[in-house]
Formats: sequence, structure tokens, C-alpha cells
Amino acid sequence: MRLRTSILAGCAALLTVASCTQKTAGPKADWQQKAVENARTQIGLEIDTIEASGKCLNPVTLNNKGEVYYCGYADWRSGFFPGSVWYLYELTGDSTLLPLAQKYTEALYEARNLTWHHDIGFIINCSYGNGLRLSHKEEYKDVMIQAAKSLCTRFHEKPQVIQSWDVKGNSWQSERGWECPVIIDNMMNLELLFEATKLSGDSTYYKVAVAHADRTLKEHFRPDGSCFHVIDYSISDGTVRHRQTAQGYADSSAWSRGQAWAIYGYTVCYRETKEQKYLDQALKTFRFMKNHKNMPADLVPYWDMDAPKIPDEPRDASSASVMASALYEISTCPVDSPQVYRDYADSIMVSLSSPAYTAPVGENGRFLLMHSTGSVPHNSEIDVPLNYADYYYLEALKRKRDLENK
Ligand code: GLY
Repeated sequence: MRLRTSILAGCAALLTVASCTQKTAGPKADWQQKAVENARTQIGLEIDTIEASGKCLNPVTLNNKGEVYYCGYADWRSGFFPGSVWYLYELTGDSTLLPLAQKYTEALYEARNLTWHHDIGFIINCSYGNGLRLSHKEEYKDVMIQAAKSLCTRFHEKPQVIQSWDVKGNSWQSERGWECPVIIDNMMNLELLFEATKLSGDSTYYKVAVAHADRTLKEHFRPDGSCFHVIDYSISDGTVRHRQTAQGYADSSAWSRGQAWAIYGYTVCYRETKEQKYLDQALKTFRFMKNHKNMPADLVPYWDMDAPKIPDEPRDASSASVMASALYEISTCPVDSPQVYRDYADSIMVSLSSPAYTAPVGENGRFLLMHSTGSVPHNSEIDVPLNYADYYYLEALKRKRDLENK
């Protein structure tokens, strides 16, 4: 099912957002409690399925036949389900989840040595990073540091960036004639590097993260605050060779999840460095999204803000949940009117927690959220559940609770 915004539906959603914003006032609104209980039940069903299989399955999405697709450790999405179980453990205090979160995390041990793509930050930080924070297992530190070392092998001196994708042997990357493609998503891998420096005392990882963030800040963004998806660099002289897209509608369009990765990634960089320019970029990209004429009334973006058939285009709940989580953090930063960011995040979360996006228990392949989009240009994962939409939704629920408990 695609969400289509008719005038009536748009008005109804606007009313819902407005009235729900009021409902969020005061300690723990109704929707939060229900969202946590629903997540416990729905993820509990997936855990039962995994445990009954006798294997350490790692759910990602639904395939074309409507069956759950389970991935291996090297898939960029392998850290999200273990990470979701950590957040669920944190949100519910249910100690039966602890050994499961550990088991699903430790199934990714081999990923610490991955050097053929950049996604090791997503994989290891979401799983082992949360595990370390919540269980203080000393051995998880070594995994984090080794993973950071692996990620740094992809850093190139001349352009001062971490290469996202290998080109040789990857058909559509090499067809574009790319040499050192860097995608905005890569900003999400930097948190692992900041953590590794704190854990090891070795500033190398921090320096690589800052260099990558600085070059990306210079090259990826347009004057209106939106960002390109892919910047391709010359390895030998560091110059920009192409500014393009892979998952967006057009090279010049605003692919929604890319904008969300930018907002989130630069918020992390501000947290770790206190450099104002990073926070400024996160705010600028957020303002671009917030003020965009095509932002739907329920604040769950279309997959690309410039997609040609809006409003008859798929939404991307994952970009909404990534943005909501980032906005809760931004509301703790030194910004004018922090409540504005918190209210916006609340409105997204109210939408995502409504039956329009939250699946009935037992349906949707036991994923929490419906209506995410992987890649329209690749005709892949369109209007489906995605495990990263669920992960950042749970993270946002936890961040909201932390703000209320302060
Ligand atoms: N990092 C891949 C994506 O956002 O689809």
C-alpha cells in the first residue's frame, strides 16, 4: 500500500499532528507507553521465530514474496536488529532480553574485520556499541577498536575521505566511472571512530572522522542546505570528479534518507567535537526538510523530496525515524528554542506510532513500522518495512524518555 496524500487525508493528518503535539505535553504521553509495549510484543514474536529456528537469524525487510529477508554479518543492515533488541532491553528493563541482545550482537563478531565497504560503523556501533554501553562487556571494546581500524583502511590521504563503496567488481558503481565514491550515509559511520578514540586513547580515529566530516561539509552540500548523495573523488589528486546520486530521483534532487543521515551525522560530530559548524549544518539541512513544499502534513517524507509524482510517491518512514532521533539530540544542544526541535520530533513520532505506520501485532513480517523505501532507482524495497526504520524509531523513543527523566 502506498500512502497517498489527498487534500482530505492531508487535513486529517495535520489535525492529528496538531492535536497529538498537545497530547505529548507532560510526562510520558499515551503513545509512548503503547509504542514500547507494542515493540515488546512485535519484536518478541520475531525473537520467538528466531529462537525456534535454532539459527541466529538477522531480519532486515520483506522480500517480493512477503517473506522476511534475513541477512549475513557483512550486510550493512546487520547491526540494526541486535541494536533494536538492546534498545528494547533498555526501554523495558526486561532482563530476558539481555542474553538475546548479547547473542545477536556476538553473531556479528566477524564483521570487525570488514574492509570492503564503509558500513562497518553502522554494523558494529549499533550492535556492539549499544552492547558496551548497556552491559559493559570489556571484550566488546576490542571489537569496536578493531572495527575502527578496519574502517580507517578506507581513508584516502589526498581527498581526506573514507571511501564508501569499492568500484572494481561492482557493476553499477564502475559503470558510472567512479573512482572513490563517498555517500552522505558515510557520516553515520563516524560515531564508531569517535568511540574508538575514547576507548583506546588513540586519536587517529578521531582525526580521520574530523577530516572526513570536514571534506564532506565542503563538498556534499548545496546552498539551500540539502545534500548530494554521492561525491566521487580522485584518489591521486583529491579533486571532485562527480556529484551524483545512486538512490535518489536525480543528481540534483533531495533523497530524503540522505538528508536524514546528514542531519544525524553532523549532530554526532557536534556532540563529539563541539565545533559549531557541524551543528549549523545539521540545523540548515533540517530547515531545508522542514520548510520543503513537499513535506507531507504527517512529517513522514516522500522517498525523495523532488520525486516527480508527489503526492503519489512512496514514503520513507526510515528517514522520518532517523530525523526524529537526531532532533531529540539537537534539542539538547545550544540552539535557539530547543522545544521547537523536540516538538517536531514528537510530531514525527506520533505519526509513526499511529496505525498509518505502526503495523498490527503479528503482521508486517513482525517489523514495527510500515512504509519505508530502500531504493526506488534500483526498484528495490519500495514501501516495505526496514529494520533501520525500527532501530532509529526505538532510539528516538529512548532519547525522548531520557529527556523526560532529566
Ligand atoms: N546506507 C544505505 C541506505 O541508506 O540506503
